[in-house]
Amino acid sequence: MGEDIFRKIEYLRKKIRKYNDLYYKHGISEISDFEYDMLLKELEQLEKRYGQEGLFSTDAEVSPASSVGSDLTEGFRKIKHKIRMLSMANSYNSSDLIDFDNRIKKIAGSISDIEYCVEYKIDGIAVSLIYEKGKLLYAATRGDGETGDDITANFKTLKEIPFDLKKDVDFEVRGEIYINKQDFKNLNKIRETEGLELLANPRNATAGSIKLLDISEVRKRPLKMICYYLGGDVSTRKHSENIELLKEMRFPAISYCKVCRNINEVIQECSFWEERKNNLEYDIDGLVIKVNDLNLQAELGDTAKSPRWVMAYKFSPERAETVLKEIQFQVGRTGAVTPVAVLEPVQISGTIVKRATLHNYQDLSAKDLRIGDNVFIEKAGEIIPQIVSVNLNKRSPVAEKFSMIERCPACNEILFKPEDEAVYRCVNASCPAQIQRQIEHFASKAAMDISGLGPSLIKSLLEAKIISDISSLYDLKTNVLSSIERMGEKSSANLIRGIEESKSRGLENLIFALGIRQVGKEAAVSLARYFKAIESLMSAGFDELTIISDVGEKTAESIVSFFKNPKNVELIDKLKEHGVNTVFTGNSGRSIEFFDGKTFVITGSFESLDREELKDLIVKSNGKVSTAVGKSTDYLICGSNPGSKYEKAMEQRVEIIDQSRLDQILAEKDSFFN
Ligand code: IVH
Repeated sequence: MGEDIFRKIEYLRKKIRKYNDLYYKHGISEISDFEYDMLLKELEQLEKRYGQEGLFSTDAEVSPASSVGSDLTEGFRKIKHKIRMLSMANSYNSSDLIDFDNRIKKIAGSISDIEYCVEYKIDGIAVSLIYEKGKLLYAATRGDGETGDDITANFKTLKEIPFDLKKDVDFEVRGEIYINKQDFKNLNKIRETEGLELLANPRNATAGSIKLLDISEVRKRPLKMICYYLGGDVSTRKHSENIELLKEMRFPAISYCKVCRNINEVIQECSFWEERKNNLEYDIDGLVIKVNDLNLQAELGDTAKSPRWVMAYKFSPERAETVLKEIQFQVGRTGAVTPVAVLEPVQISGTIVKRATLHNYQDLSAKDLRIGDNVFIEKAGEIIPQIVSVNLNKRSPVAEKFSMIERCPACNEILFKPEDEAVYRCVNASCPAQIQRQIEHFASKAAMDISGLGPSLIKSLLEAKIISDISSLYDLKTNVLSSIERMGEKSSANLIRGIEESKSRGLENLIFALGIRQVGKEAAVSLARYFKAIESLMSAGFDELTIISDVGEKTAESIVSFFKNPKNVELIDKLKEHGVNTVFTGNSGRSIEFFDGKTFVITGSFESLDREELKDLIVKSNGKVSTAVGKSTDYLICGSNPGSKYEKAMEQRVEIIDQSRLDQILAEKDSFFN
């Protein structure tokens, strides 16, 4: 295999893995389904053409062309699936469907018509429910296909699911957890009033909700399930009959499961729904075509990644054509300058789009976008609009090639492009756009959580020269604020209080707030735990830093160079002078929301803290600790070598928090919403 091909394969695998992780673990679609599928197709074709040779050469992981994306999340017990949960092959047009039909006939050695079922492809999160003796034993996510996350406790908050059938039968039900469109809108409305970050789309909201650590939060989420598979003792011989049976068993079975006598009828169904896909109360991202005869399904079997008896039919992505009016450049917190396309407003998938993401200048020049071009835009997974291509037929002969700006749009500094990066950067430490973003980050909820200090106020304060950098926030006085428009006495006093309160945030908040490149909240927590004081972190060398979990080589390098900069050292000094906390107050210094108002029983021993410390922390966080598992117990916190309380909790179906979940709670990681 040539070096170039090899590199291309590696490149595609890396890219697909990245998108898999974003999608399955964080519910984010950065590219459209169609673009993703095209990448995957290209990889599959290359791997097929050049054989398996060199397939595992530089990365130990299996190629994403022959494995399933993973949703596995730390903090949940792992469950091995009885039958693997696979993904599905995709089709986009009638000839793909005819190929599918022909493949099946060939394997089955049959020339007569195959009966299919056509169903909605629900855009949610796959779940497997295992019932023993008629009772729900557990609910698990797809995970990596072999092993899933145990989400039983969270799943039990769903209404309309029979948890006990009072019948001695063992079976499995599979389906999709989802949030319908109206419920999603309501949920976001509530979040808006509570000042919480809005959720991107129903699928993303579902993915985050089902993996929340706090069950009382899960209860507030309008999660539902649609069932599309039944296996085990009760199964009939046809998929369509199983769907009927699910209804009789009072499961919320898929409402549309149309039996088609042959592939032509399937094709008609597909074009029928192409026009009507937006009229349902929940999102569907296509249709699913299944061989109806379950014996034939078994005969067809699976490939490494997907069953041969099923095919997804993906609707063509919604596209719109519009004019590219302008390309603007935004300057980020770290000086990265990224292009944004300003478009003639156009309607797509029910919303009006005015701007589109261009990842970096490379992306922009690869597409050869020119001002005034007619461009096709698509919504990536119905979220972020993207420019997919230019309509060259409509290009003006005088349209000029776009060249990258040379100077920072905010401060006029000459831009610099590090060789190993795709982005251009403004390296002026006093660039006003960067300062604005740095202060926004510093004040954000996960950082110093300064309430009342949002982007527009920061902008006004900077423009009025009332503040000039992060540390100047702590010099603010109520009287100067009154000169700012819309700042009444009350909001000024609130802001000053917010700033004052931020002085007592944890060291982990401060480390995160500094905005050191590569240092996310998780790394900040580990650094705070390890170094205990900002000075020790400041003097730490590369080798010491890399010992810490969550800190890789790049992160370590970035930390060292951050504190080498005298301006940053000066910033820390000023913050200290103002009385900002710079030491780790440990778990005892703060309260943890998760414990608030709940009753816990503790058993076994723990790695990260001793039992007395844990008790102390729960009590300080307004929770209760009782000695025996009873009716009022919300959770059993279970360390290593647990006592009989463990069995008691299992018996009484009290939810169990193990060591890794406890660690997650202590780090206050609230699933994907932080
Ligand atoms: S049956 C793949 N039926 O789509 C094994 N899956 O992209 C057969 N999905 O992981 C699954 N609607 O989570 C089936 N009516 C439906 C479905 C459906 C949505 C999901 C499922 C699967 C994913 C593959």
